[in-house]
Amino acid sequence: MSQDAEPIPSVLFVCLGNICRSPMAEGALRAMSEKTGLKVRIDSAGIGDYHVGDAPDLRAIEIARRDGVDISHQRARQVKPRDFHEFTHVFAMDTANIAGINGRAPRDGTAKIALMLDAVEGRQGQSIKDPYYGEAKDFDKAWTEILIAVNAIHNELKTYGVNATF
Ligand code: 4NP
Repeated sequence: MSQDAEPIPSVLFVCLGNICRSPMAEGALRAMSEKTGLKVRIDSAGIGDYHVGDAPDLRAIEIARRDGVDISHQRARQVKPRDFHEFTHVFAMDTANIAGINGRAPRDGTAKIALMLDAVEGRQGQSIKDPYYGEAKDFDKAWTEILIAVNAIHNELKTYGVNATF
């Protein structure tokens, strides 16, 4: 790699448990960037530690699989302070996640922190609702919103790389 190669953006998706929304977002952005050739590092994590080491919820696996995205190999982990130095962008699913992130992020963290839907025109400040205690239709809605947000995030990263703001 030459010394002035473009830096590669890195994205961490965060939700509460890291078994529903953020694994879906991780899988969706990975699938999209593999198709388009966008170079980006992608991971996901949870605010809580309840599900550390677990595979995604079966309902999340199923809905992603329906669109050809395999998330079954992912394993939950908890957000750690180093994430805010190692990732250029951290996306939270809802406003409660933002509060959790702010409680964990070191003062000198460099990651840009935003809500997923901040990337979508007209949806800034809105949350992607936790489907965990809901029904199939709630997973369907979360997946649809995640695809919309991931598409917008992908396009901004493709244009602006590490300098993309949301
Ligand atoms: P997620 O959903 O934050 O989208 O992964 C949840 C999964 C598990 C729990 C809460 C939310 N839980 O309380 O165990």
